[in-house]
Amino acid sequence: MRVLVVGGAGYIGSHICKALAERGDTPIVLDNLSRGHRHAVKWGPLIEQDVRNVSAVTQAMSDQHIDAVMHFAANIEVGEGQREPLAFWDNNVAGVIALLQAMERSDLRHLVFSSTCAVYGEPQTLPITEDEPRTPVNVYGQTKHVVELMLEDVSGIGTLNYAALRYFNAAGASPDGEIGEEHDPETHLVPNALKAAAGLGGPMHLFGDDYETPDGTCVRDYIHVTDLAQAHLKALDRLRDGAPSFACNLGTGSGISVKQILDAVESVTGRPVPHSISPRRAGDAAQLISDTRLARELLGFEPAFSDAQTIIKHAWAFHAPRWGVASL
Ligand code: UFG
Repeated sequence: MRVLVVGGAGYIGSHICKALAERGDTPIVLDNLSRGHRHAVKWGPLIEQDVRNVSAVTQAMSDQHIDAVMHFAANIEVGEGQREPLAFWDNNVAGVIALLQAMERSDLRHLVFSSTCAVYGEPQTLPITEDEPRTPVNVYGQTKHVVELMLEDVSGIGTLNYAALRYFNAAGASPDGEIGEEHDPETHLVPNALKAAAGLGGPMHLFGDDYETPDGTCVRDYIHVTDLAQAHLKALDRLRDGAPSFACNLGTGSGISVKQILDAVESVTGRPVPHSISPRRAGDAAQLISDTRLARELLGFEPAFSDAQTIIKHAWAFHAPRWGVASL
């Protein structure tokens, strides 16, 4: 299968490309490289293009004999969305409108869409099921929620079958160390904790230790990026087998606190994680934990690498040599 991976030069997209290639499919990356990295495109061609250019994307679909599409090209940093909402609506929403137009012109009907647990906002119940009301509390979550609504409408007329995969906290790096998380600036917990352990950039800010959680710090559901990639392949196969459109959480069902992540980083790296307690970060929910039943039922999804030690071990093995630090 020839799969157009829009945003395939980014963190999650590049891991999906690797997984596609490992099972014999060909990923064709379309990426404007605004955040992604040329060096992360290793398993097929790179079309350097913005997804909002409908005619260029339509042309690429025809030239490359594309069979199915996956979409990862989005602005993801929650704080940036609050400061620059228009850029988020443009890239995250207008980008998908353009992609759907190109798919319609090309008679392509299968789309795997990268969504997020941020569509739920502050959940009323834990673990979070897919029936939880979708009331996002930030611009990032709003844009993903609106795209899901748009996908529902378009699939309603029978020209599109999609899977919207609502990730919890993606983390880790490929087990062989080939690719990993390279955001700039980095805002995510695992790489920031590793950076502090490596002695780079000073102590990490721990955002709030006064939440109503067992140790006072926020609880999240961390899922290894390689497990996420496998779930995408299963979602694509399900669509290709003729299943109707669906939306599904991707998490492990286990909550881990920020302090527990710092402990795990200390244990994996053998180094302390210098940190200071800072005020709560705007928009952080106290706890986000996925209900995993639907992913198991629809995708047969069972995470293989998503325990904290393995996630951190792989992330450290990726980062340490790039930072010039011994990894063991
Ligand atoms: N944290 C720190 N210090 C840091 C970075 C993070 O204390 O330097 C804390 C955060 O406050 C939060 C936890 O670590 O409690 C996890 O934060 P991340 O930034 O790693 O991840 P988020 O839970 O904020 O973000 C994830 C996804 C987003 C998505 C969001 C939904 O990465 O794309 O969940 O709430 F929008």
